[in-house]
Amino acid sequence: MSDNNLASVETERRATPTEKSAPTQLTAELAMQMFALDQHVIMTIADAEGVILYANERFCEATGYTSQELIGENHRILNSGIHPPEFFADLWNTVKAGKVWHGTLCNRRKDGGHQWSESTIVPVVGSDGKPYQYVAVRTDITRLKETEAALRASNAKLHELNRRLGEAQNQLLQSEKLASLGQLAAGVAHEINNPVGYINSNLGTLDNYLKDLFRVLEAYQAAEAGMDAETLKALAKAKAGMDIEFLREDMGDLCRESREGVTRVTQIVQDLKNFSRVDDVEWQWADLHDGLESTLNIANNELKHAAELVKDFGPLPEIQCRMTRLNQVFLNLLINAAQAMDKPGTITVRTGVEPEWVWVEVEDTGRGIPVDDIGNIFDPFFTTKTVGQGTGLGLSLSHGIVADHGGRIEVDSKPGKGTRFRVWLPVAQQELQSIG
Ligand SMILES: Nc1ncnc2c1ncn2[C@@H]1O[C@H](COP(=O)(O)OP(=O)(O)O)[C@@H](O)[C@H]1O
Ligand SMILES: [Mg+2]
Repeated sequence: MSDNNLASVETERRATPTEKSAPTQLTAELAMQMFALDQHVIMTIADAEGVILYANERFCEATGYTSQELIGENHRILNSGIHPPEFFADLWNTVKAGKVWHGTLCNRRKDGGHQWSESTIVPVVGSDGKPYQYVAVRTDITRLKETEAALRASNAKLHELNRRLGEAQNQLLQSEKLASLGQLAAGVAHEINNPVGYINSNLGTLDNYLKDLFRVLEAYQAAEAGMDAETLKALAKAKAGMDIEFLREDMGDLCRESREGVTRVTQIVQDLKNFSRVDDVEWQWADLHDGLESTLNIANNELKHAAELVKDFGPLPEIQCRMTRLNQVFLNLLINAAQAMDKPGTITVRTGVEPEWVWVEVEDTGRGIPVDDIGNIFDPFFTTKTVGQGTGLGLSLSHGIVADHGGRIEVDSKPGKGTRFRVWLPVAQQELQSIG
């Protein structure tokens, strides 16, 4: 506090110079010091009520006002609205108590902009011990504040980028995991194929053998009339508790059911192979319906709880494509459709052909896409879903895959009614004419 008192005393001394020695020289020195100070700092003098009595040129430059505009006005005209009332209460309490106040102040410039300064306000205390003037000396730190804000903004941007990087890394790990899962599935499918193959063929043979056996049994039954009593008795004993008619029927049913089961296993294995084939990223001529059927089977679990599935397939020519990649596109569209269902509805998968082009459409009766979102849905990481449900990468990856085929994805959505995605693909790849 001694500093503060000193400041007050000194100012008082300047206000009423009593020294006898070289007063003119002192005045000249003081004027010179004042001039130097004026060149560097922003300075105002206000009366006890805060009415501006003096504003130096630098203050005028910093705030955009002329000194005529300022003098006679209360300091309040510079209030930026940034500081809370307690801030000014503290300032006034300090200076009215005859103490020096230090702080960072934000003024509003004439053009509405902000002007920041490190400020020191010194009360000039009269002989009654009360301040009758306040001298405010400031250093402009607006540029510093602006740089600080820019730094904060770019720091926030960096944080956001870092977060995205983390997500991308996660996604990469995820797709690596998927790729190795795909490899595993392809391996398992290959291993299962073999035994399932011979079970299937054995069941066919068994069915034929049984038919033969029953034919022979029928012949024996027909011959029963001519058999002697002892043979018939032995036969009756062997057949006791046995219903041959039931056996004949049930064995047929058992064989049929088992073969149906095996056919289903074969289908699942085929779907797994079609879907996860890691080796067929090569271009090939393929029927999109095969890929769609496999994908629908894979997605079936997710779809059947959400909606009724309608297939409306038109005739399709084979097209030159990377089938596995396109399956991923169809899967993304199907899962999105299922996730858009707030209440039971339908998901329709349509296909069709135009000269040189084929299209595949997935239409749902779900919640639709808000107009404001439509422009963003293909952006990486754009998602309206919760963590775990969505990554926001499905459509951006799909867009990339379709573009890689020289195709395009169209979207038509009515909020509250549903959404239709249509994937257009060229039949032949111009640059791959040699393939096939
Ligand atoms: N069929 C659809 N119905 C409604 N909104 C959809 C549909 N498909 C995509 N969207 C919107 O597009 C966003 C991005 O989709 P996508 O890239 O697949 O990422 P994710 O499904 O992981 O959110 C979704 O979060 C959703 O808001
Ligand atoms: Mg998705």
